[in-house]
Parts: sequence; structure tokens; C-alpha cells
Amino acid sequence: MDKLKVALTGTSGLIGKDMWEALKDDENFEVWGVGRRKPDYIPLPRWRTLDIVDALLTAQTITQINPDCVIHFAAISNPDECEKDPETAYKANALGTRNLALACQRFDAELLYVSTDQVFNGKSERPYREIDLTAPLNHYGKSKLWGEDFVRTLLPRHYVVRTALVFGLARPTFLDRVVNSALNKEPLTAAVDLVNSPTYSWDLCQAIKYLIGTHVYGTYHIANEGHVNRYELASFVAESLGLNADFIMKGSQLKLGLPALRPEFSPLENFVWNLNGFPKLRHWKEAVLDFLEAL
Ligand SMILES: NC(=O)c1ccc[n+]([C@@H]2O[C@H](COP(=O)([O-])OP(=O)(O)OC[C@H]3O[C@@H](n4cnc5c(N)ncnc54)[C@H](OP(=O)(O)O)[C@@H]3O)[C@@H](O)[C@H]2O)c1
Repeated sequence: MDKLKVALTGTSGLIGKDMWEALKDDENFEVWGVGRRKPDYIPLPRWRTLDIVDALLTAQTITQINPDCVIHFAAISNPDECEKDPETAYKANALGTRNLALACQRFDAELLYVSTDQVFNGKSERPYREIDLTAPLNHYGKSKLWGEDFVRTLLPRHYVVRTALVFGLARPTFLDRVVNSALNKEPLTAAVDLVNSPTYSWDLCQAIKYLIGTHVYGTYHIANEGHVNRYELASFVAESLGLNADFIMKGSQLKLGLPALRPEFSPLENFVWNLNGFPKLRHWKEAVLDFLEAL
């Protein structure tokens, strides 16, 4: 069988690093990294420097690699950063995605774009399915949704993968803040009114690796099963480490005063994924326990 040639954006980030790890030694794939900053773990012959905001450079870089599939993680992924500087967010998240979609269109490559639960407004009474109405509350969600639109409009052979509250080993996330507060005996306020589906980056990357082998295109929610609010999640982490959870205080997103308003209830149901009979993702609790063991 021919190898699938894959180009990855966002390899210096949380999920991109795990994706590189998941593909690099697999004989079914030839994987390349593209981005502004070459991470140490990517060998130079498999690297091309690229700022996805530059349309011409994006087309040139994709031509040079000539991939079968582009997995696109690069983004301004912090909602508060996007809220403070929306122009940069729209340039990277929406126009950068358009540039990659155009390059894939020209060179007949598939594109897998990673999007977010923050395309929803969080007013639902049940976990969100792929078909549900989008209505983002913040610039991050709007810029990612615009990216989704470009991908769907420009490329028939696409995957749009929405995921949420990702944790992993490549960079610190909310879970690391909980662990550090516990170890340093510092108080931590966690919102009870932010509910979503925490997702282990490693599990997400295994699912993406599976998906790109199917060529069953479309929009997918991919998150660990179940949902939880931030306060309960932090308490679960502390208790799993055998620590007393009394350093964690119940808060609300209003009290936390974050620049970007988040959807209050945005769990993702892996509806299409499960309907297809693809390998079910595990529950977030099992994934968190695995992550804590790997720390
Ligand atoms: N983390 C989550 O909880 C979460 C949840 C749902 C969806 N997502 C989505 O998943 C994807 C990956 O998230 P992440 O948390 O892994 O991101 P991350 O850790 O913040 O990393 C972002 C990556 O994007 C790259 N990048 C940013 N602007 C770029 C540009 N103009 N040109 C080229 N590369 C650029 C960064 O490269 P530099 O090193 O050059 O800055 C970095 O490698 C994003 O699309 C995000 O929206 C994330």
C-alpha cells in the first residue's frame, strides 16, 4: 500500500505535537511539519517554514510537499487572546484556513481542519450534535466558524473535526493549573457554569489518524465521552492524585472576569462518529487518569 503523505500545521502546539508523534514512525504515513517555528523533534528534511497568513507562501509550500492530506491545527487557540486582538485571530484562524483550503484545492489534497465547541452558544439542553445550529459568542468561535465555512465551500474532500477543552503533555493546560495549585497549596477558583467535554490530545490524535484512513468526509465531533463542569473536573484531578480538594473554590465565568465569554454548556456528542460505527472514544475520567499517570 502507498504511504499517505501528510502535512501538519501547528506542530509546535499542544495537539500538533501529539499528532506528529502518532504518525512519525507509522509505515503507512510520510509526515511533514509546516509552521513558523521548527520544533526540535522534527528533523530538518521533513520541515518547511510557513506563516499560513501568507496566501502565496502557503500555496508554494503545499506545492513543494505535494501532500495527500493536510491536517490543520495552526490557530490562535486562546479565546482571550482572540478577544483582545480580533484582527490577528481572523487573519490566522479564518484567512489562514482559507489559504490552506485554496492550496489543497489547487493540488487536489484532502484537508482536515480542527475546530471547536465554541462555535456554539451554549444554550442547548443536551450535548451538541454536528447538525446543530452554530452561534459563536466570542471572536475565537467566530473566527473558527469562518474557517469551517471556507473549508466546506472550497473543498469537497474535507473533514471538519470539532473538539473541546483539550489537555495533553505538550504544553500546560487547565489540568496542569489544578495540579500545580494542589502541589503549591494555592487556592484555585473553578467555574461551575462552564460545562464541556474534556478531551485528551492523544485520544483525539488516534481518532484523527483513524479518520484520515477512512476518506469518509464531513463534519465530526470528536471528544472524550461524558461532560463535566470545571469545578468538578478540578476536584476529580485533585482526588485522583490523592489530595484534598478543599483548595478549589466554586466560581463562575462572570467572577473569573475573562475577556472572552465562553458558552456555558457546550459538551460535544460524537454523534456522526458513533453512527458510523467508528471506534468509540473512552470516557473523560479514564483519559484524565491516563494523563495524570503520564505526567
Ligand atoms: N486546545 C484546545 O483546548 C482546543 C479545543 C478545541 C479546538 N482546538 C483547536 O485545535 C487546534 C490546535 O490547538 P492547540 O491547543 O494545539 O494550539 P496551540 O497549542 O495554541 O498551538 C497553536 C499552533 O498554531 C501555530 N500558529 C499560529 N499562528 C500561525 C501562523 N500564522 N502560521 C503558522 N502557524 C501558526 C503555532 O505556531 P507558532 O509556534 O509559530 O506560534 C502553534 O504551533 C487549533 O486549531 C484550535 O483552535 C483546540
